[in-house]
Parts: sequence; structure tokens; C-alpha cells
Amino acid sequence: MHHTLRVRISESGMDVLEALACEMEQVGIEIRDHSLKPLPGVEPLPEGMADMVLWFETEDASREAAELVKADFPDAALFFETVEDQDWTEGWKKDVRATRAGRLWVGPSWMTDSRPDDCVGLVIDPGMAFGTGDHPTTAMCMEAISDWMDDKNHEGCSVLDVGTGSGILAMAARKLGSGPAVANDIDPQAVEIARENAAKNGVDGVEWTTKPLERIRGRFDLVLANIFANVLCHYAPRLADAVADGGRLMLTGILNEQAGEVLTAFEREGMKLVRRRDRDEWTLLEMAH
Ligand SMILES: C[S@@+](CC[C@H](N)C(=O)[O-])C[C@H]1O[C@@H](n2cnc3c(N)ncnc32)[C@H](O)[C@@H]1O
Repeated sequence: MHHTLRVRISESGMDVLEALACEMEQVGIEIRDHSLKPLPGVEPLPEGMADMVLWFETEDASREAAELVKADFPDAALFFETVEDQDWTEGWKKDVRATRAGRLWVGPSWMTDSRPDDCVGLVIDPGMAFGTGDHPTTAMCMEAISDWMDDKNHEGCSVLDVGTGSGILAMAARKLGSGPAVANDIDPQAVEIARENAAKNGVDGVEWTTKPLERIRGRFDLVLANIFANVLCHYAPRLADAVADGGRLMLTGILNEQAGEVLTAFEREGMKLVRRRDRDEWTLLEMAH
């Protein structure tokens, strides 16, 4: 049995809520925005709003968490639910798909038979970290990484993956022949999961870290960031600075209508758009100095 707290707030507050959630005794976080099917029995999201579902072992923990949320988000709508464990685990499985993106195939361990022979495989079971490959932002970024790594000159390139979640993008780059990578996330649980995923996939050469971007030094040939647009804009100076000359910056997590604002923030840092990819309501910007 698990207890969930669903918090409905504006999408722009999600980063702050995520940081708050990391301090709670939750066992899982799920963000449900407009890119996902609404949960059964849950009213549709109004424009600009998103849900965060937090999972707890006890009802008391979910009530304590609600008090913390109320203190910072007095207008948030809060909903409590009790979930049978069996539904919970099986529920994950029903929604999981394998994804092919460029030369990469990503899927859960129970679908590995469907991996095409001409693809490099990554096995990621759904867990408590974002990044099983089927979200349009992750899939577009894997395609972009695959295209970049198709150029033999990029073999052994250094990689920075900001907001690594399950570790998927850093692992994708390594599997396709990149050099050493640094991958960070503000969520320590995600970093732990990423480390485990790397071990399961035989991926080495990645420094998995909770170090914030400000404390990651150096310049990288390939910089990947799949985070909300407002976080990308905030970090534009450091992200731009982290891209080596001749390197590529891949930014996603951006809604189509936010692309202009993100572009302007990075152009201000002297970066130029090389390629734009769009899928559903999501955009990926590839930029270079
Ligand atoms: C949309 S997920 C992307 C996961 C994975 N990279 C992918 O492409 O599927 C965004 C991740 O960024 C992390 N994150 C959010 N703000 C961050 C920040 N300021 N620094 C580092 N990580 C951050 C979140 O914890 C989350 O794991």
C-alpha cells in the first residue's frame, strides 16, 4: 500500500516544488504535464498547470508533506489517494514503450527481444527517475545525439548531461562512442538510479554527481540539457560557457511557444542556432558558438 499526494500548481512553479519534494521522505515523484495522458479519474489540466504526484510509505508522511507544500504554495490544489501496490507496479508496465531514436533503442528489460539488430541497446526499467526514452524531449535528444555521433570526428568527445534523470542521455552518448562524461541532477535519488542503470548497461566513464552546474568546471564538446525552459534560461551563461569551441549544445524540455525566449537567452551568450527539432508540443534547439 502506498499513499500519494497530488499537487496541482502552475507549470512555472514545478522546479521550486521539485526542489522541495527532494527534501521530503517520499519514495517517488512523478510530474504529469500536458504531454501525458491524464490519469484515470483525474480532471484534465487547465492551460499552464501541471500535477506532481508524490508517493509515500505512510499516510502521515503524505500529510506532513502537504503541510510543507501549503507553506510555499498556498494556492496549490492538494489531493490524497491510497494505492494498492500491485496496481502501482503493474500500472507502470502498461504505459511503458520501447523507443527507437536514430541508432539507439531504449526499452524495459521485458521488451529486449524487440530490439532491432542495427540498434545500440539501452535497457531502462521504469523507476522513480525521469527518462525511459519515450518522452518526446528525450527521444528527440537521443536522435540528435545519434546524428552528432554519426560524424567519426566526434568519437571520444567529452559530454556534459545536465539533469540526467535516469542517466539516459549520458549513457546514450557513451554507447555511441563518446569520451568521458559528467552527468548531474539535483535529485540525489535520480543520481543513484542513473548509477545503477549505468552498471546494468555496462556503461562506464561517467561521473554521476549531485553537484550543481555552477560547481562543474571545464568545457565539453557535447552539452545536453533536458530541463524546463525557465531553468535553461537561468543557466544560459554557464551552459553556453560549458560548450567547447566546435562543440554542440542540445537544449530541450522546451514547449514550442517557449522556444523563442530560450533562443534569445542563448543568443545573448553568443550562441547560434544550428538546428531546431519539434515533436508534438516540444522543441529541441541545437546551438553552437
Ligand atoms: C525532464 S528530466 C530529464 C531526464 C533525462 N535527462 C531525459 O532526457 O529523459 C529533468 C531532470 O532535471 C533535473 N533537474 C531539474 N532542475 C535541475 C537543475 N537545476 N540542475 C540539475 N538537474 C536538474 C530533474 O531532477 C530531472 O531529473
